[in-house]
Amino acid sequence: MSSLSGEERKIKKLLKAAELDIEADNLKEAGEKIHQAIQIAKNIGNEELLNQIMEFIQEFTYSIEPQSIELNPIETDGFILDIGGGGQGIIGKLNDKQVVAIDKSERELEETKNEALKVVMDATDLKFLPESFDTCTSFFSLMYIPRNKHLKVFEEVHRVLKDRGKFLIWDVKIPKRIGDYKAFMIHLRVRLPHDEIEAGYGVKWQKQNIEYFKELAKKTKFKIKNEWIKDEIFYLEMSKEE
Ligand SMILES: C[S@@+](CC[C@H](N)C(=O)[O-])C[C@H]1O[C@@H](n2cnc3c(N)ncnc32)[C@H](O)[C@@H]1O
Repeated sequence: MSSLSGEERKIKKLLKAAELDIEADNLKEAGEKIHQAIQIAKNIGNEELLNQIMEFIQEFTYSIEPQSIELNPIETDGFILDIGGGGQGIIGKLNDKQVVAIDKSERELEETKNEALKVVMDATDLKFLPESFDTCTSFFSLMYIPRNKHLKVFEEVHRVLKDRGKFLIWDVKIPKRIGDYKAFMIHLRVRLPHDEIEAGYGVKWQKQNIEYFKELAKKTKFKIKNEWIKDEIFYLEMSKEE
């Protein structure tokens, strides 16, 4: 029996197990298994298997039209705390060593290629002293954090920001659930000064929009300084003012 069919069997087994996870609404576990399956298919360079995995994902994932964003380095003194800075680590790619990227997932941080200092940490329980940072960012990370934890994240960010420190959020509008889709996905083209990145951010479906985050800002006493909406994505700039 060839090693290829062995790998194929492994992928089929992973997808079968992921299907059971999805039925039980355990999207995080399903995501881990799909991630493993993708890695195996990539390692053996099997395009057909990769396509099959993508078709499997599309069955339970609603994808919006591809979105695009252009970013320039953030002008700020001191360190930038980037919440959920794993994945593509866009903020770390923008501001390099100025960035302290925290993420709950060690694996995500290990896979992130940039110059940021990477620390495994939960955004609902930041291990920094109060008033440590001038700027805190969340680049398509709040969509990954369950709604019932968002208020705590805002409180924690407020605590670790200095007076007049800024909290910058980029994220996507997620509507009320459509059909039976369990997951929501955005494909985002990110233009940086010297690079262009294609990112895919997929999450368990939870409704969110800019108004929802402005409410959280109000609750945690942030002042809104700037905001925009472009197609399905939005930006919110808040300031801590005593
Ligand atoms: C995929 S990233 C989002 C995009 C990323 N900021 C980038 O630049 O590509 C979202 C991250 O949030 C992390 N995350 C989810 N809940 C978290 C929490 N409570 N604290 C810290 N990180 C969290 C996930 O592990 C995931 O790596």
